[in-house]
Amino acid sequence: MKLNLKSLSCYSLGFILFPFIAYSQANQHAVQNKFNSTSSNKVKNEQGLYNQNENDIERKINELLSKMTLQEKIGQLNQHAGADKEAEELIKKGEIGSFLGVSGAENVNKLQELAVKKSRLGIPLIFGEDVIHGYHTTFPIPLAEASSWDPELVKEACGIAAIEAASEGINWTFAPMVDIARDPRWGRIAEGSGEDPFLGSAFASAEVKGFQGENLSDKKSIAACAKHYVAYGAAEAGRDYNTVDISERTLREIYLPPFKAAVDAGVATLMSAFNSLNGVPASANYFTLTKILKDEWGFKGFVVSDYNAIGELVNHEIAANKSEAALKAFTAGVDMDMVGDTIEGDIYHPYLAKLVKEGKVQLEQIDESVRRILRIKYELGLFDHPYVDKSYFEKNMPSQKYRDSIALRLSEESLVLLKNENKILPLKRNIKSIAVIGPLADDHKDPLGPWACAPDSNNVVTVLNGIKNLVSKDTKINFAKGCEINDTDESNFEDAIRIAKQSDVAVLVVGESSDMSGEASSRADIDVPGMQQELVKRIYEAGVPVIVILMNGRPLTINWISQNANAIIESWFLGDQAGNAIANVLFGYYNPSGKLPVTFPRSVGQIPIYYNHLNTGRPPENDNRYTSKYLDLPVTPLYPFGFGLSYTNFSYSDLKIDKNEISDKDSLIVTAKITNSGNTAGDEIVQLYTHDHYADVSPPVKELKGFKRVYLNPGESKLVKFIIKPAMLAFYNIKMKKVIEPGVYDVMVGKNSDDYLTTSFEIKN
Ligand code: NOJ
Repeated sequence: MKLNLKSLSCYSLGFILFPFIAYSQANQHAVQNKFNSTSSNKVKNEQGLYNQNENDIERKINELLSKMTLQEKIGQLNQHAGADKEAEELIKKGEIGSFLGVSGAENVNKLQELAVKKSRLGIPLIFGEDVIHGYHTTFPIPLAEASSWDPELVKEACGIAAIEAASEGINWTFAPMVDIARDPRWGRIAEGSGEDPFLGSAFASAEVKGFQGENLSDKKSIAACAKHYVAYGAAEAGRDYNTVDISERTLREIYLPPFKAAVDAGVATLMSAFNSLNGVPASANYFTLTKILKDEWGFKGFVVSDYNAIGELVNHEIAANKSEAALKAFTAGVDMDMVGDTIEGDIYHPYLAKLVKEGKVQLEQIDESVRRILRIKYELGLFDHPYVDKSYFEKNMPSQKYRDSIALRLSEESLVLLKNENKILPLKRNIKSIAVIGPLADDHKDPLGPWACAPDSNNVVTVLNGIKNLVSKDTKINFAKGCEINDTDESNFEDAIRIAKQSDVAVLVVGESSDMSGEASSRADIDVPGMQQELVKRIYEAGVPVIVILMNGRPLTINWISQNANAIIESWFLGDQAGNAIANVLFGYYNPSGKLPVTFPRSVGQIPIYYNHLNTGRPPENDNRYTSKYLDLPVTPLYPFGFGLSYTNFSYSDLKIDKNEISDKDSLIVTAKITNSGNTAGDEIVQLYTHDHYADVSPPVKELKGFKRVYLNPGESKLVKFIIKPAMLAFYNIKMKKVIEPGVYDVMVGKNSDDYLTTSFEIKN
């Protein structure tokens, strides 16, 4: 792996590369597997392992299937959580295909040996885990990573997570989460790439490629799992696991594209979601699982249910009992049962055989699901190197220094500067005194964020330590916690006010605890919790300049802070390097470049609020009451999608298109000149939006279609180029057909979804 820090990354539909599907297999550490192939006609890869083609794999699957009993086949469809004596017996009988929550080379090798040596056919197990934003090294949470608008760097981070996880026996991660989220009350917004399908697709593709590498059978690659299929993020009222009711158009235009991008990138697996979708639970939804995913998109991997999602079909009341639940999920297209109802035993394992005997499930269907699972096991090379080879990882693990440098760079790029009144930032490096205040200022745990996998909180650099590491010897640092994250105690305010008054500036680190976002962490009120905002107010009233560092897993409603603080940095949860990255930005060692991947509302009353909405029949007008707006709030967000400031100024000019008219087969070149008109070098993320004027169905007011990260020295200008192909402008018409309509389109190039230059062109028949 190599790091290209100054790389200029470019994402527009015209540039996204086409699917890479790894059909290969490794053969170096062959065990006594009864179905190892011969090595004729095979080419060795860089690790000395054999690559195999698709036909080899299909032939071996057929051979294996012809020898499997029904019970063994159903075993492959069954994922178990944790291992005990009972599970070991089931492995020997060939009745478990996968484990969740087992890691560590020794543990994994022990179970794998039972599967490979003691079961009749020696089919290896696949070990899955939630490797979401790092394994030992903790990178920023996915929402933060998306703020970098740098999928290439995130791909590198996923590659590091993959090798660290693989060294502990994990061959499969339940990531990336590619759910679009337009509701910050939903705690799982932290786990995805925000509100936009285009940005979300770019990250989905990059993350899949990062985890799976060039070749799935490489020992440093792990299988990815795009989740939660589908529309889980549209949970009503932002309440986790809640009902989803959206049109097929919204499903196809907004929620499906990142899954399609993951499939196109060769993702090995998908996870079916907990929610019901238009009345049919996602884990029993034939339309999405079979019609769209497997038939329309030609997905060749397998679908695993979310944890007990099949058992929960009974709660959804589409199944009267577990047998019916198994029938509905399986025939809809869920291939593997993740830990079905752990209390009373799984669902596929006890019920599918009976359903086959009753003729309700066809044996061919079972074979088809087993085939999908075996295919991924073959592609991962598990038949040929089933065990964790510690010596390989000892030699090939990237150095800690390298991992830290990627984590630091990604953390810096993920920071979003929301306000910088009178250029108070960056702080002078020889400032006399700083008060560092807040419950998150010296916290080693919460910066890890939700779903930290196997972190070491000792590795977390706190903001306090990051600042201490950077300032001059003569700078005095005063620290006070001030209050807890989420209680009502003000008794330590005085201490914080006192040290603030003794300092030139107060840096307040406030926000959420890591468990306030992630799964089952919806909030109805998304203010900064507890007494923290009150603490910020009291320091402000003491007359000390206030710099607020936010740590949180979702957009928060921060109106008062936004109006009154002198500067605001959104840091999300950055992982190990949080304090170093924040300190580098505070003191100008890194010029912030991140942009919001999600809209910040002024109030929960505005939710859902997103930039790519439709126009109404009565777009808001200031002096017309009978237009679409609120009596008590503006309709605009607090911070729009794509927003983020820099220590320098970037000016946009000379927006040009090379043609005013094109046919639906042509393409169009858009250029704009971006100039760094300030005094500091830095990156700007240039954004391309389009808008269709008058279509068969109401078009969104604008849609992101491209972006580029550009590095500019002071005074430097660069011409940024995008290519628009009419296929990028296609949409689902009234008959739900994807079409490119002739007509006039606006092209917008700018700093964010609310600040851009505009021109237009026409597509003619
Ligand atoms: C439930 C979560 O919804 C899913 O994202 C996760 O992968 C599984 N549990 C396994 O931990």
